[in-house]
Amino acid sequence: MEIVIQPTPEAASLIAAHIIANLVRDKPDCVLGLATGSTPLPMYRELARMHREDGLDFSRVTTFNLDEYVGLPPEHPQSYHAFMHEHLFRHIDAAPERIHIPNGMAADVPAECARYEAAIRAAGGIDLQVLGIGTDGHIGFNERSSSLASRTRIKTLTEQTRRDNARFFGRPENVPLHVITMGVGSIMDTRQVLLLAFGENKARAVAEAVEGPITAMNPASILQMHAVAKALLDEPAASKLALGDYYRWVFANKPQWQRFVRGR
Ligand code: F6R
Repeated sequence: MEIVIQPTPEAASLIAAHIIANLVRDKPDCVLGLATGSTPLPMYRELARMHREDGLDFSRVTTFNLDEYVGLPPEHPQSYHAFMHEHLFRHIDAAPERIHIPNGMAADVPAECARYEAAIRAAGGIDLQVLGIGTDGHIGFNERSSSLASRTRIKTLTEQTRRDNARFFGRPENVPLHVITMGVGSIMDTRQVLLLAFGENKARAVAEAVEGPITAMNPASILQMHAVAKALLDEPAASKLALGDYYRWVFANKPQWQRFVRGR
């Protein structure tokens, strides 16, 4: 895994946004895998700015979101449909028919999960997947002990994740129990992964994921087996890494052609 440590979330998010922008320019009909939560917000703000001010064109891009709460209709303010509309889609020119988010209201959840997997396949697979990480190492809503080969399916959230997400719902009891999430195997099939993690409360999960053993007890650790995975971290999230100085050294000495933020 490539580890990039930046002084602030904004600096790391700028790199992530440039990597995505370069992909969208090089392959205008690319397929992006997107995440919700607090972590990608600065990156989405920068992508919106690039659309507004630099004319970055998302009109042919296809998107698939990682997950959605079961039982929340798209218009519910805490649904991930509403989140994505509010923080990204209403600011860019993505075509509504190419935006995909699991349907948390589906009467037949297994059929919805199979449909979602088929839609990803039909789109040609995901070129670049954006990920956050839970304080326990979850990616998507693949909680600890999730099969590392899992596909899109229903999951039951842990108490920890419901507490972490209670800030959006007022109280942990209001956080839905069930979600539909792309599986760890679905994430591993993507061609490139950008894992973003900010803040001291992510430091342990990040250190285990990057430098620990590969284990379902930290689902993000499977990314060690992904051929093209970058972790973009701020200093607090990187604070428990044993090889932090080495990762900073590697980044500082990148050859020019390998730099992420190339002007265009
Ligand atoms: C969101 C998702 C989750 C979050 C993770 C971190 O679509 O799949 O894995 O990325 O829970 O959440 P934040 O960014 O709010 O700390």
